[in-house]
This record gives sequence, structure tokens and C-alpha cells, in this order.
Amino acid sequence: MKILVVHGPNLNMLGTRETHVYGTETLNEINEKCKALAEELGIEVEIAQKNSEGEIIELIHYAHGNFDGIVINPGAYTHYSYAIRDALAAVALPAVEVHLSNVYAREEFRKTSVIAPVTCGQITGFGSNSYLLGIRALKEIIENA
Ligand code: DQA
Repeated sequence: MKILVVHGPNLNMLGTRETHVYGTETLNEINEKCKALAEELGIEVEIAQKNSEGEIIELIHYAHGNFDGIVINPGAYTHYSYAIRDALAAVALPAVEVHLSNVYAREEFRKTSVIAPVTCGQITGFGSNSYLLGIRALKEIIENA
């Protein structure tokens, strides 16, 4: 089983970015946790971070035929990117949307996800654990498909 983890814009800044919201963990540290969990679960994981919408769309297209599912933190694109939503719908792979912060406890614009309707579900507010919960959930979804 192969899972693609996609980090969207500004997540490369984790560790120093708005630490009161996102904590001090770096993207590298989150990635190491994802890899350790994948090993524990006996699955393969590939991880990428992209700041631009087009590159995220290309990654999602690349997942088609190469991966069994996607864990995605689309960052701010969550709230308005119909193009990323359409890419996920196009590849029709099981996907889980994850967020470090609780998007429902923040500004109004973050309470809308245009991505969630084309995913299996959303995990929001558990810090880096959102990714780990997302990987676990996706593995079970793929197994039970
Ligand atoms: C985020 C939440 C988004 O609203 C924000 O734009 C991000 C990070 C999160 O992981 O909490 O960049 O996706």
C-alpha cells in the first residue's frame, strides 16, 4: 500500500511560522513522524510540500496509478481552490484532509473547506497528530474498499 502525503503552501515555514497557532515542530519533524508510522503500519509513504496550486494539482495527478490514497493539508487553498478540489475528484483516490490547527475555532473564512466534500473526511486541530490520524484512517479506508 502506498500513500502520498501532500503539504500545501507555507507549511515549509513550520517551526517559526505563527508558533502560537502551529507550534514549534518543523515540517521535517512531522515528516519523520509520518515515516515512522508508515513503517510501523507496514505501508509505503511518499511526502511532498508545494507552495503553488499548479504543483499541488500535478502531484495529485501523479498519484493516479502510483498511489492508493492521499493525505493532504491544502493550507489556505482549502478554503477556495476549486482546482485542487477538481483534481482530487478527477483522480478519484481516497483522500483525507488534515489540518494542524482547528480551522473551526479560527477566522470565519477558515470554516469553509471546498476540498472536504471530495475527501473521505477531515481531521483538524490535533497538530502533527492530525497527519498520523489521517494516515491511520486512510489505511483502514483503503483496506476496507
Ligand atoms: C492549515 C489551516 C489553514 O487555514 C491555513 O491557511 C494553513 C494551515 C492548518 O494546517 O492548520 O496554512 O491548513
